Amino acid sequence: MELVILIGLQATGKSTFYRTYFASTHTLVSKDLFRHNKNRARRQTQLIEAALQSGHPVVVDNTNPTVEERRALIDLGHTYGVEIIGYYFQSQLRYCLERNQQRLGKARVPEVALYTTIKKLTPPTYAEGFHKLFFVQITDAGAFEVRSWKGQSVEPAQ
Ligand SMILES: Nc1ncnc2c1ncn2[C@@H]1O[C@H](COP(=O)(O)OP(=O)(O)OP(=O)(O)O)[C@@H](O)[C@H]1O
Ligand SMILES: [Mg+2]
Repeated sequence: MELVILIGLQATGKSTFYRTYFASTHTLVSKDLFRHNKNRARRQTQLIEAALQSGHPVVVDNTNPTVEERRALIDLGHTYGVEIIGYYFQSQLRYCLERNQQRLGKARVPEVALYTTIKKLTPPTYAEGFHKLFFVQITDAGAFEVRSWKGQSVEPAQ
């Protein structure tokens, strides 16, 4: 049983990664699914708890950029005694801006959102309570490359 937490700037490929690897097995929880809810953090907690209580593994698909935001999720994982797995998506601003620009309609987010997130984006560490951490990169060929992450910064300069 596991709680998977995706972490990364907008347009790093998190939702695509979910659809590719987890859609058939894991419940998707994302604040994007209830944009108009007044208390999105509380709603998110309720949905994670409901899934874990009924024995379904969960993927939390938000940018989850700060230690504080992740702490609430990790605490939940500990409460339910599940394995807590983090995927950190390489977050190079210029490539994310490019991919965002290529998105159509509502999928494209205002550029200011990326600038706001990158300022507070903190790569995850084992000290936060993760049991496993991975680093995800999109290759030139458009594939996802996943490797084990030791919690150190392997981000090239922005
Ligand atoms: N492996 C990939 N190779 C090439 N392009 C990709 C890949 N994965 C995603 N993309 C493209 O990058 C863009 C962003 O992907 P996606 O919507 O999955 O990102 P996201 O991290 O979920 O963004 P947000 O945080 O805004 O929800 C999309 O246009 C998508 O088609
Ligand atoms: Mg997404």
